[in-house]
Amino acid sequence: MNNYYELKISINPDMEDIVSDICFTNFACEGVVLAEETYKDLIMTATTEGTLKVFLTEINENPIEILKTEREILKSRGFTDEELGSWEVSLDEKENQDWSKKWKEKWTVTHVTEKIAVVPSWIEYTPKENEITITLDPGCAFGTGTHQTTQLCMKALEKYLKKGDSVADIGMGSGILSILAKKLGAKSVYGCDNDETVIDVAKENAKINQIDNYLFELKTADKLTEKYDFVCANILHNVLFEIMGDLKNIMKDDGKLSLSGILNEKKDIVLEAIKRENLKIIDTISQDQWISYVVKK
Ligand SMILES: C[S@@+](CC[C@H](N)C(=O)[O-])C[C@H]1O[C@@H](n2cnc3c(N)ncnc32)[C@H](O)[C@@H]1O
Repeated sequence: MNNYYELKISINPDMEDIVSDICFTNFACEGVVLAEETYKDLIMTATTEGTLKVFLTEINENPIEILKTEREILKSRGFTDEELGSWEVSLDEKENQDWSKKWKEKWTVTHVTEKIAVVPSWIEYTPKENEITITLDPGCAFGTGTHQTTQLCMKALEKYLKKGDSVADIGMGSGILSILAKKLGAKSVYGCDNDETVIDVAKENAKINQIDNYLFELKTADKLTEKYDFVCANILHNVLFEIMGDLKNIMKDDGKLSLSGILNEKKDIVLEAIKRENLKIIDTISQDQWISYVVKK
């Protein structure tokens, strides 16, 4: 077995998903541990929140330099040093003790709501009566169901999706929202992402969950012409700001749009774009330091 590399990055815990996304995009990254969590009976008893551990199979370019550049880009987009955390980095070569197994040990069944559970594909789980389960192997894609931003979109889908709706999932990552939409009764789901590495992961997850009537592809919302009953977009606030008009364009006149990926302190940026596009907020859902909106035309 080849050795692997462990990158440890000191971050503000609020930045976990953003930094993970950067690692998956730039490195030969096979997994991240957002916070090493210890659980007892599904209750977290300890966490190393604030240190992101990233597992790399090889090193092509200098990850420390890449992270420095990416941090500067985020600063130029308005993030402060305090919001970002120091991003102090350590890089260690480790003997391969099947790191993927180690990473997988940390992930267990996530009960998102009373009725929805996300189950890692390597765990056997017997659902409760009427419980919807999504079986996932996130591979290198974001969307394990453990992150608040994903859960906020899942809650919006549970609350507002009507049976027979057509759904678009912009920035589908692992495909988790599309799969949930189908299991909640959507007629069809369309998912796209601008990261080509996630497309096969989402397709594989669709297969594992035996959903039909789906299409996952490498695309962005501005290229779409069809209109949907329900659109979800769990993407960073600055991307939402840029693409709000494209998201509006793919909503049916009586359609709904669930917006997530928004830190409380960045909500004004998204609210400005909602106003700019003349969209109306019909619900606001929060979880910890994250906020999400459901809007209509
Ligand atoms: C936070 S993840 C969300 C994944 C999944 N939908 C979930 O809710 O867990 C955001 C995803 O959006 C993708 N993304 C970022 N900017 C995008 C854009 N402009 N158009 C489409 N996808 C984008 C990223 O590659 C990433 O997979």
